[in-house]
This record gives sequence, C-alpha cells and structure tokens, in this order.
Amino acid sequence: MLERGERIWDGRLGSPLAMDYLISNARQLPALMRGERQAALLLFPEGKMDYANALYRNSITARYLTKATAAAVSRICAEKIAAGGQTAHLVEIGAGTGATTAVVAPCLKACAGKLAVDYLFTDVSQFFLAAARETFRDCPWMRFGLVNIDREFEQQGLAPESADIVIAAGVLNNAFNTDQTAKDLLQLLPDGGWLLVVEPTREFPEMLISQAFMMTQPEDDRKNTKTTFLSVRQWEHVFWQAGAAEVRSLPSDEHMLAPMEQKFFAVKKDSRTRLKQEESL
Ligand SMILES: C[S@@+](CC[C@H](N)C(=O)[O-])C[C@H]1O[C@@H](n2cnc3c(N)ncnc32)[C@H](O)[C@@H]1O
Repeated sequence: MLERGERIWDGRLGSPLAMDYLISNARQLPALMRGERQAALLLFPEGKMDYANALYRNSITARYLTKATAAAVSRICAEKIAAGGQTAHLVEIGAGTGATTAVVAPCLKACAGKLAVDYLFTDVSQFFLAAARETFRDCPWMRFGLVNIDREFEQQGLAPESADIVIAAGVLNNAFNTDQTAKDLLQLLPDGGWLLVVEPTREFPEMLISQAFMMTQPEDDRKNTKTTFLSVRQWEHVFWQAGAAEVRSLPSDEHMLAPMEQKFFAVKKDSRTRLKQEESL
C-alpha cells in the first residue's frame, strides 16, 4: 500500500522527500503526542529546509498555487503601469521559506524600467528572515521584517493603505482570529488593492499529524466547526465580512487539481463598489 502510494507520488506529484517527511511524521506521531518531539524540528531537521522545499515548492499543487499568485501579481502590476503608476508596494506575510517569493520575484524583475518595486518580506520568525536575506540578495528592492499576524500591524510598522498587494500564502491558518486578521490585512490596502491568499480548504490528515502541532488554537469559526482549516465557504464569508468588494478563486471546480482542495484567493478592496453592493441589498 505504502509502496504504491510512493510510486504514484514520486516524480509525478512531487519530490520523494515529501513522502519521506509524511512517513516519518506518521512514525513519530506517538512521540509528538507525548510531547517528546517538536513538530518544527521534524519539518526543519538541523535547521535544513529540504522537507519544507519539497512541500512548499515542488509538489504539483504548490507549483500551481505559486504560479497563480505570481500571475496575479504580474497582472496587477501591468494594470498599475497602464494607469501611470510609478511604484508597486508589496507586503508578504508569513513568507517563510520564500517558496512563493521565489516565483513572484522574477515577475517583478520583468517590470524593471517600467515600475519601481518595494517588497517587504515578513515572517514571525528571524530564522526565515536570515535565510531570505541570503536567497534574495539579488533583489535590492526587497526589505525584510518581523511581522506577527496576531498583533496590530501599525504597531509593527505597517501603515494603513501602504501596500498595493498583500500576499499571505499558507500563513492565515495560523491566525488566532482569522476574521480580525483578514480585516487588518485589508486595512493595509488602499481602494483597488489586492490581498492574495493561498490556503488548504479541508482537513488534511497528512498536515494534522505534524504541522497542526505548530498551529495556534483558533478563536474563530473553526471553533464551531471543530476544524483546523476553514472551508471555501468559510473563507468567502471571512473576506466579505472583512470588507472585500470582489473575491475570485482558483482552481475552478472542473480543474484537475480541484480535488486537492487547496485554493488561491484574490480579494479586492474597493469601498465604493462595496458601498453600492450594500445599498442594493
Ligand atoms: C506553512 S508556512 C508558509 C509557507 C511560506 N509561504 C513559504 O513559502 O514557506 C507558514 C509560515 O507562517 C509563519 N507564521 C506562523 N505563525 C505566524 C504569525 N502569527 N505571524 C506571521 N507569520 C506566522 C511561519 O513562521 C511560517 O513561515
């Protein structure tokens, strides 16, 4: 059974390392539950990012979702250039190993000469910032900073309406209160700005046996549904409640990756459209 799973996975759906990681997690589960092992050390043994790269960069779903994010960034920047904009301000939250940044950065380089870029790479952990400074040393327009999604952004140096694009890939499920964090993230955008989010939208046993041990106990609708991840419908509700004027998502229900139930959401802030929508209700 295990061998069959490995055969189907390897080379077609992702790197063999992702399988090694999941099998090792299953074996370590009793020790994790007894508190004898730390989930973070299973994902980053000796501080190495090989397992994380296999999960966040190389799987077929990760490749699709990072490309979707990068394509959205390119499109938003092209619109900004067409509208005579001078600088694109981007903030990435929970940027971690930089799996999304690595795919987005070349799209921004392609705008050189037409649009100046200011990219703030953030995470709650210094560990990732140190690695990212090295990885993205050829991006002089990239800045690095500590940001915790559970704390007020302004107190952490993020001013309201200071970003055209906010990217949050795989981090919002760590929020203590997703509703509050989504509101706070939209506050960072002016009208016309976009929040780009990537999230699992069902319970994933392979994540629950290890990564869930690193997550915060939530104080949002997950408490009612007793789930670790929000469903698509719950996410849409979160975004509308936070003040979104438009919510789009990928992949579509017909897409071959739809059964993976990992989603890319593009959420637009536009108070004027939002007001009209509310008036017509
Ligand atoms: C699943 S990983 C995200 C993957 C990331 N996009 C990447 O490419 O590596 C979750 C990330 O969220 C960060 N994180 C966890 N809790 C956070 C918090 N409260 N505020 C900000 N970042 C947080 C972690 O340090 C980690 O880098």
